[in-house]
Amino acid sequence: MSANRPAAVVVLAAGEGTRMKSATPKVLHDICGRSLVGHVLAAAGELEPENLVVVVGHAREQVAAHLAEISPDVRTAVQARQNGTGHAVRMGLEELGGSVEGTVVVVCGDTPLLTGETLRRLSSTHSADGNAVTVLTAEVPDATGYGRIVRDGASGAVTAIVEHKDATDEQRALREINSGVFAFDGALLAEALKKVRTDNSQGEEYLTDVLGILREAGHRVGASVADDHREVAGINNRVQLAEARRVLNDRLLTEAMLAGVTVVDPATTWVDVAVTFERDVVVHPGTQLHGATHLAEGCEVGPNSRLTDTRVGAGARVDHTVSAGAEIGPEATVGPYAYLRPGTRLGREGKIGTYVETKNASIGEGTKVPHLSYVGDATIGEFSNIGAASVFVNYDGQDKHHTTVGSHCKTGSDNMFVAPVTVGDGAYTAAGSVITKDVPPGSLAVARGQQRNIEGWVARKRPGSASAKAAEAASRGSAEEG
Ligand code: UD1
Ligand code: CA
Repeated sequence: MSANRPAAVVVLAAGEGTRMKSATPKVLHDICGRSLVGHVLAAAGELEPENLVVVVGHAREQVAAHLAEISPDVRTAVQARQNGTGHAVRMGLEELGGSVEGTVVVVCGDTPLLTGETLRRLSSTHSADGNAVTVLTAEVPDATGYGRIVRDGASGAVTAIVEHKDATDEQRALREINSGVFAFDGALLAEALKKVRTDNSQGEEYLTDVLGILREAGHRVGASVADDHREVAGINNRVQLAEARRVLNDRLLTEAMLAGVTVVDPATTWVDVAVTFERDVVVHPGTQLHGATHLAEGCEVGPNSRLTDTRVGAGARVDHTVSAGAEIGPEATVGPYAYLRPGTRLGREGKIGTYVETKNASIGEGTKVPHLSYVGDATIGEFSNIGAASVFVNYDGQDKHHTTVGSHCKTGSDNMFVAPVTVGDGAYTAAGSVITKDVPPGSLAVARGQQRNIEGWVARKRPGSASAKAAEAASRGSAEEG
């Protein structure tokens, strides 16, 4: 592929994207865990260009900061005023010294479905045919708003691109459109851009005019038709954003299913680009997998779960769970209705059960926290059991403190572990205890008030009440029995 390595890819991302009606610049909107411009850069990166330049303008500090974060090798060129796509490319080339020897590929920052494969095909058609310019086109059902590809009636050769606003009715009937993606001979592009004028309906420098200019100068102009028109769709509003997300999600799920993942209901399953799967994973309906989530072999997730940056071990079972930044061990079970927050580590065959929240908690192999508990800032050893309705009291109002529970411990229900505190290996704690002092290994800690029964209290204090009558009947009954 390096034979076709372009000298530069120029990404146009200076426009405002007014139709998004958003405080966020258009190219920073997200689908499947990546910004629109991030998707374009990923596709462009597959060409391994020598230079990658993004033309920024509207909200340029914000866009440039994002680019520096996701793709530090990218250079930015500033187009202070949006004088058209031709002008934008000129600004991009200026960043590279004004002109570039070799192929220059131009793409728009708002086409997130474009694949590296399509760019490679464009690039190789361009070199194989020895073109001065090759435009990526597509047949679309509705060409409204797009530049139309005008071809010679006899030869079928591309003669010009006419913008919708400048087109005749006859031209508007054409359904082959300019995707906005091109491969150019760098030197010829720089020369032709100098000749682009602004005598059009928008008063802008149109990149598309370069085609006619090069053709008239006797250079070869070619086209590469995209297989799937959806791939070149530019995002202009939030309806198109949702449509693109759907298409990309379907692509990702198809890939996963073909690699051996069972997706029970693709319509309600959403994944990000960085999510990875092993074989025989089952994903149940209503599941959203975000960030760098990884599902290991044979695990089952869902229904109705949202996992972000979470690693699920082989054969684990996760049901109705929200999780971020957690690691779930092999054969472990989580949920239903669990909330795993960052720093949660659950060991092999461990359990985080129903209505349990965890944070910065390491829970060892075979250890179970089955019901209604909060485990924060804690280390729990192996094969211990934490009783229902326990709270690891980690916050004193100012600082967070750590609790350690050893291995093979059995802690009672409704315990408060007031951190910092340590429960030794093999220790027990009584139900209802508030554990404020360390518990030595193997001991039973009881930390609660003694029970007193004040007999006859109801009859004296609540005479005639239903409770008093019930008590009276009970004592009569036991007297008769006796
Ligand atoms: C452009 C094409 C049109 C094509 C369509 C495909 C031109 C004149 N028209 O039209 O033929 O069918 O894309 O989607 O090229 N941009 C800048 N600076 C500018 C103007 C635009 O960086 O001064 C960037 C935008 O941010 C965007 C891209 O260029 O990423 C396309 O601009 P847009 O205004 O959407 O062009 P269209 O009118 O859609
Ligand atoms: Ca557009």
